[in-house]
Amino acid sequence: MYRASIVFWGTFLLLQLLHCGMGLDNGLALTPPMGWMSWERFRCLTDCELYPNECISEQLFRRHADLLVNEGYADAGYEYIIIDDCWLEKDRDNKTQKLVADKKRFPNGLNPLADHIHNIGLKFGLYQDYGTNTCAGFPGVIKHMQLDAKTFAEWDVDYVKLDGCYANISDMAVGYPEFGRLLNATGRPMVYSCSWPAYQEDAGEMPDYTSLKQHCNLWRNWDDIDDSLESVAQIMDYFGKNQDRIQPHAGPGHWNDPDMLLLGNYGLSYDQSKLQMAIWSIMAAPLIMSNDLAAVRPEIKDILQNRKVIAVDQDVLGIQGRRVLSKNQIEVWSRPITPVVSNNQHSYAVAFASRRSDGAPYRIVFTLKELGLHNAAGYNVEDLYDDKSKLGIFRPANQFITRVNPNGVTFYKFTAL
Ligand code: GLA
Repeated sequence: MYRASIVFWGTFLLLQLLHCGMGLDNGLALTPPMGWMSWERFRCLTDCELYPNECISEQLFRRHADLLVNEGYADAGYEYIIIDDCWLEKDRDNKTQKLVADKKRFPNGLNPLADHIHNIGLKFGLYQDYGTNTCAGFPGVIKHMQLDAKTFAEWDVDYVKLDGCYANISDMAVGYPEFGRLLNATGRPMVYSCSWPAYQEDAGEMPDYTSLKQHCNLWRNWDDIDDSLESVAQIMDYFGKNQDRIQPHAGPGHWNDPDMLLLGNYGLSYDQSKLQMAIWSIMAAPLIMSNDLAAVRPEIKDILQNRKVIAVDQDVLGIQGRRVLSKNQIEVWSRPITPVVSNNQHSYAVAFASRRSDGAPYRIVFTLKELGLHNAAGYNVEDLYDDKSKLGIFRPANQFITRVNPNGVTFYKFTAL
């Protein structure tokens, strides 16, 4: 009996140890996280007298949580309300060394905000930084990792974005996994978003994606997005050029993150908005908006809430798509999705992205074979941006013709038969 119990507990402890060593494994983010985050649109606006509706404050996040629900985004799958940088006091609490939310802008601390977010069915995300300071200069976690992980759990945080300013890049490969373990050790499940590879890539170092996907639910690979087509195009180019080493590492529980959705802001036209949404879905990107949800025009809201496009992003197989070819400045981006039919033939979402700006919609013709679609029984094709258009059945030898607006996209689902 005594021996059996020793064997039992020994095995139990060994499994626990192995489990810890194996990394995050928190069961979260089985599809790319969806939600809203403050940074791209609201940056570090902290003057609430001058900008009462825009400053980083409890009010901004309550308002956006309510809008996420009342404007239909939550029904479409958007779930996380994430506070980015500039929410902190410049100093930790003198006695406890705990982080303190800005006392003027978050006068009740973070718990009542978290409660409100949870009460309306959403989840709560928070930004911090692995280094001595956040990118905007507020205190970072490095010397208080255990305390901060515990504090996040006390604040009922569901999602942590850990940035990498003011830190030694060479420490990150050890430090980020360590913070992930501390988050896990709190017993509260928290999605863990790591910025560590973006800093390594910037410094010309190759991130270890095998380690990343073991320790993080998502990670920023590269530069910050800005409110322009140029920025979207640069990110597309980065992911296209580096897809061989980046794409294979995405999957349920661990995602590449090309950064926030710009839709609803100043920089993207209607067509360009469709373009970002389509390409982000092909990339299995987290769909994290950063906009003023009260000011999103109806036609842009329709794109953000397009159920068919969101279904591509959230496809259960979690295979990230790739830029498969480029002809006359029309790039073809394709992603294998469900349903999968006999002979392991996938269905595909295919986006034709125009990098042209020469006026008329550009007509382009591909055979399905050229697009990499080889299922002999063919595909049922539908336009993901046009509910009424059913294009019918196409087989591998058939031609597929599409007309793409300048800097725009056409986006189709090829359902394997
Ligand atoms: C970095 C990150 C951004 C944002 C800012 C905040 O630049 O990449 O996403 O969080 O810091 O300061």
